Order: sequence, then structure tokens, then C-alpha cells
Amino acid sequence: MTYVVTESCIKCMYTDCVDVCPVNCFHVGQEMLVIDPDECIDCGQCVVECPVSAIFEEGDLPERQRHFALFNAQQAKQWPPIMERREPSLDAEKWASVCGKEQFLAK
Ligand code: SF4
Ligand code: F3S
Repeated sequence: MTYVVTESCIKCMYTDCVDVCPVNCFHVGQEMLVIDPDECIDCGQCVVECPVSAIFEEGDLPERQRHFALFNAQQAKQWPPIMERREPSLDAEKWASVCGKEQFLAK
């Protein structure tokens, strides 16, 4: 089991999660972060840090978000690691309440 970053992260990227991860398993794309399932030690510390509740344990993923498990695993091998918190995305507050953001994700 691992933890998975889902749609709510898109275009928000608050990165509070990065600071608490003991094993630095977050990777960063242009619009969201992902977790490397091979590195995650399932501590769960990142879940409560995310202001938009984007992180779930894999077994608790809502039906609509389940495909993000594979997406995290794949993109973690493509995107660079992120070790420190950054400024959130521009307009993060505006995007925080938007649903259906996956269409804006550059693949
Ligand atoms: Fe890192 Fe723990 Fe979150 Fe996994 S569950 S990404 S190890 S903080
Ligand atoms: Fe994304 Fe939440 Fe981390 S918005 S960058 S999963 S704190």
C-alpha cells in the first residue's frame, strides 16, 4: 500500500506535504505533485498537511480518483524529486475549489 496524490493538487501545489515526508518521495510536475510508491513508507503524515485534502491511502481512494495510483507511480519515474516546500501555484486559492481539474493536466 502507498499514499497517492489526486486531482485536488492540480494547479494548487501547496507543497506543505513535502516538508513532512521523512523519505522525500514526492516528485513534481508542472501542475501537481505525485508520490513514488516505491519510496513511500506509508506513514500518513502528509495527509493532514494538504490544505485541499488531495492525498489518500491507496485503499481509500474514491472511485473517481483510483486511476491516480497508476499515474503517481508512472510520473514519479519521469518527474524530478522535490525536497523542500515552495510557494503555491499562482491562483492556488481560486483553483482549490474547482472540480474536474484533470482536463488541465499536461500529459
Ligand atoms: Fe511521505 Fe509518509 Fe506521505 Fe508516504 S505517507 S508520501 S512517506 S509523508
Ligand atoms: Fe498538492 Fe496538497 Fe501537497 S496541494 S503539493 S498534495 S500539500
